[in-house]
Amino acid sequence: MELVQEAQRFQFTRLSSSSDTEDGADVVAGLAADPKTLPCKYFYDAVGSQLFERICDTPEYYPTRTERGILTQNAADIAALTGPCEVVELGSGSASKTRILLDAYSRRADEVHFVPIDVSESILRESSRELVDRYDGLSIRGFSGTYEQALAALHPAPAPARMFVFLGSTLGNFSTSERAAFIARIRGAMAPGEFFLLGIDRRKDPAIIEAAYNDAEGLTARFNLNMLSHLNRRFHGDFVVANFAHRAIYETRRHQIEIYLDSLVAQQATLLDLDLSVSFTKGEAIRTEISKKFDPGELAAEFAPLGLEHAATWSDDREWFSLLLFRLGNRQGPAGGTD
Ligand code: TRP
Repeated sequence: MELVQEAQRFQFTRLSSSSDTEDGADVVAGLAADPKTLPCKYFYDAVGSQLFERICDTPEYYPTRTERGILTQNAADIAALTGPCEVVELGSGSASKTRILLDAYSRRADEVHFVPIDVSESILRESSRELVDRYDGLSIRGFSGTYEQALAALHPAPAPARMFVFLGSTLGNFSTSERAAFIARIRGAMAPGEFFLLGIDRRKDPAIIEAAYNDAEGLTARFNLNMLSHLNRRFHGDFVVANFAHRAIYETRRHQIEIYLDSLVAQQATLLDLDLSVSFTKGEAIRTEISKKFDPGELAAEFAPLGLEHAATWSDDREWFSLLLFRLGNRQGPAGGTD
């Protein structure tokens, strides 16, 4: 753990470098599992990150622009509801949507405090430098590392309040047990009266959801397949990318889109650096991502036992996406209720 003073009004704590967390043990475990899986973090090499930005601009991929629209329409309301507060963002990335919130807070107060958390130190540095240049009253104390590390390392809450922000429906990329662990961690980092703003993609006509993960231009297919090129490069592998195909299906019963790479032929692949050889039968699938779609009421009921009180919901006109605001009650506790 190392404190880096990067610029005036911008410092960050380095909790881990990305090389610490990407040693490939997760690849070995995923490809040994039945059915085979690969961790979604391997989507995001330089090529993958660029492809994802382009996916967000396709006509089919509605989540990003819908969430941005909701933020634009309601940021002033959000800031009015919470009052002045420090904004702690999990997975801040380029922070392009967060700017809408920072704009609203900076209109209400001379000083704004932002705590971005991201695994990518380079993205954290770049976006934070831009932000301090843009807002005179902004000071940034970020963390580069995983959510777990950063939530454990957070300094005590400053007066008067704090809001944790988790956008992009990234919550939907967790399994049910991962989601419970994640929410418990956030809850554990919160003091009574603090806020949690969560962006969620909602249940809707499966055709709309499937199209969002299967754009006509084929960018999503390239994004999914790029994971194999990334693994080849990172671990000296020999996946023949042309022998796999992208597939996205909406599993109605589980309310989730599932993303696969299907093996088009019987084949074998080796990842030299991981001492790993894997065989695939023709038609065998590797699952690379799930993206759950939520019902706001169900989620609020899931969070209530933790003391997280549902304070507000903002949605687009079609109710495709929502921002939910929660507040940790004064008498909270994993077993206790609030009154
Ligand atoms: N978190 C994004 C989502 O679930 C990631 C994503 C968008 C994605 N398109 C994808 C992941 C296609 C895999 C394949 O919406």
